[in-house]
Amino acid sequence: MEKENGKALSRKIEGRISSEGPITFREFMNMALYEPGLGYYMRPGTEIGKAGDFYTSPHLHPVFGQMVAKQVEEMWALLGKGPFTVIEQGPGKGYLAKDVLDYLEAGNGELYGLLSYHMIELNPALEEFQRGLLGERHQKKVSWGKALQGKMAEKGVLLANELLDAFPVHLVRVRGGALMEIRVGYAPEKGFYEVLAPPSVPEIEKYISEFAPGEKILPEGYRTEVNLDVRGWLREVKAAFSGALFLLVIDYGYPAWDYYGPERDRGTLMCYRGHRASENPYRDPGGADITAHVNFSALARWGLDSGFRCAGFCPQGTYLVSLGLEDVLGAMGQADILKIKGLLLPGTMGQTHKVMALYNGPGELPALRGFSMRNQCRVL
Ligand SMILES: C[S@@+](CC[C@H](N)C(=O)[O-])C[C@H]1O[C@@H](n2cnc3c(N)ncnc32)[C@H](O)[C@@H]1O
Repeated sequence: MEKENGKALSRKIEGRISSEGPITFREFMNMALYEPGLGYYMRPGTEIGKAGDFYTSPHLHPVFGQMVAKQVEEMWALLGKGPFTVIEQGPGKGYLAKDVLDYLEAGNGELYGLLSYHMIELNPALEEFQRGLLGERHQKKVSWGKALQGKMAEKGVLLANELLDAFPVHLVRVRGGALMEIRVGYAPEKGFYEVLAPPSVPEIEKYISEFAPGEKILPEGYRTEVNLDVRGWLREVKAAFSGALFLLVIDYGYPAWDYYGPERDRGTLMCYRGHRASENPYRDPGGADITAHVNFSALARWGLDSGFRCAGFCPQGTYLVSLGLEDVLGAMGQADILKIKGLLLPGTMGQTHKVMALYNGPGELPALRGFSMRNQCRVL
């Protein structure tokens, strides 16, 4: 079944290339991940965690969701309590939502009573799984949709855990001193192949001159990614709320000065299948995840254009500890502690993953507890 899906998707991409000529890598990645019914995230059998191709924090331990619930509580209080909406975009299997709702139901009846939780899920099979996981108990709190829309909610927070790394990216490479964009062609004898062409949109050059360091664009041969979709997405997030809102982004990534440093001259694009990493996105379209790290400087700067201010930025481990992890650690056994280390310590998701909170609303920039130990908004 999966093999058939993969073949059908490859044929679809080949067909598009034969009628349009080589397509941008962004278009290729968009089809590989999001082609309805066939793309990696749109197939009936999409799995995350042990049975899938990669782990995310909610799959490691419920303590992650419990800490996010504490964050939701704090944001609710900062926005004056009252009715509050959580929108979670790209919820995957739904474990984060379950852990947040379980925690609030048990520990904050007032907020649980006032809360609406909205899931934005593209894949009907994942939505069905989420409905089963949340059960009748939480279902009265939860609604589902396929896209962000204007004025969906008044006050609240949008949660994006490992969402932005799954947005399709443009690939670029410097050749002969010029910035070129990678396009994907197809020939029966060699399969998918890359060709260089001038950038498809002017925003690509603008992005590199804004975010890549140094006087010249980037060194000869340098290859990297450009995620332009984040910009329009920030505007959509803002428009989804009629009142004040927070945006909480948790993902692997770097500030621009680190992202576009000399040691990352092959970029950060990676593919995952069966918990094995590969740099080749053409071997298995639809059968493997394709992902790129997040440029948190672009997120903060474009956020500013949409009226957001950066309320916090730091590594995930520091954030979770600052939020008060000790409140829940007492009840944990040895096996739990081992898993939780993977969310916290250097060399794990505690360091690779960063947390950024943006705020769009009136008054002073709120001080969030999760960034009390360290807040690097200013280095972006
Ligand atoms: C790496 S997975 C993370 C899933 C989940 N948040 C977790 O942490 O386990 C990325 C998810 O984002 C979803 N996604 C990407 N773009 C989206 C969009 N525009 N709207 C809703 N979901 C999207 C993908 O379909 C996929 O399920």
